Amino acid sequence: IGKTIYYYDTVDSTNIKAKNIALDENNGAVIISEEQTKGRGRLGRDWISPKYKGVWMSIILKPNIPPEDAPKITQIAAAAVSKSFDDLGIKNKIKWPNDIVINKKKVCGILTEMSGEIGRLKYIVIGIGINANLDEKDLTDDIKEMATSIKIENGSIVNRENLIIDILEKFEYLYEDFLKTKSLNKTLDICSEKSALLGKMVYLVKGEERFKVRAIDLDSEGRLIVEDKLGNKETIISGEISIRGL
Ligand code: BTN
Repeated sequence: IGKTIYYYDTVDSTNIKAKNIALDENNGAVIISEEQTKGRGRLGRDWISPKYKGVWMSIILKPNIPPEDAPKITQIAAAAVSKSFDDLGIKNKIKWPNDIVINKKKVCGILTEMSGEIGRLKYIVIGIGINANLDEKDLTDDIKEMATSIKIENGSIVNRENLIIDILEKFEYLYEDFLKTKSLNKTLDICSEKSALLGKMVYLVKGEERFKVRAIDLDSEGRLIVEDKLGNKETIISGEISIRGL
């Protein structure tokens, strides 16, 4: 991972760049930009990506796995980012499936996109956005309610180069282990240990409806198991449902 790195001053979105070159690129190529003018979040949302202040990067992967396993790679990325934060002394939790939070507010989001046919994956792009050194003024009022930056929470500037190197190293380790063992064991150890949700009451949002449930476990596929007050259990596939209110 990261043998080839494309580094830009500004791009529309590193995920868009990555998708444009993915078919011709090698597994593990990384796109990094100082700024994104059209940064994208999940559910088509905008992702604020001011210059020199964050980590905006995308990893191109060509694993031989079925498309439905792609969310597992998202979990691997979340585990890698969370552990790298730990190493730099940045307290954090993983909000399943793919956010990293500090003091309950989001500092990192992951956007996984893929291309393929049924049963055959062409590529996966893992986009990682980290609000490293954003200031209050970089965030709009509505975003400030849910999101923050490492600098705002910790009061100190993050060395983005060190963070990127650490994340790519950890990601490679967990990703190789997953491909070799076909199991998420190492990743799930981290995701459970660092989970912001496990043991807590959360809202499960399905369309217009909202259910209060307890997050109780991650299964071997990285799916979240929740339980309602009657003791009925449900397994949630990442992306299918959003969870609010931790
Ligand atoms: C989310 O909604 O939580 C996912 C946010 C993902 C943002 C990153 S920044 C690098 C990459 N390029 C994008 O346009 N989005 C992802």
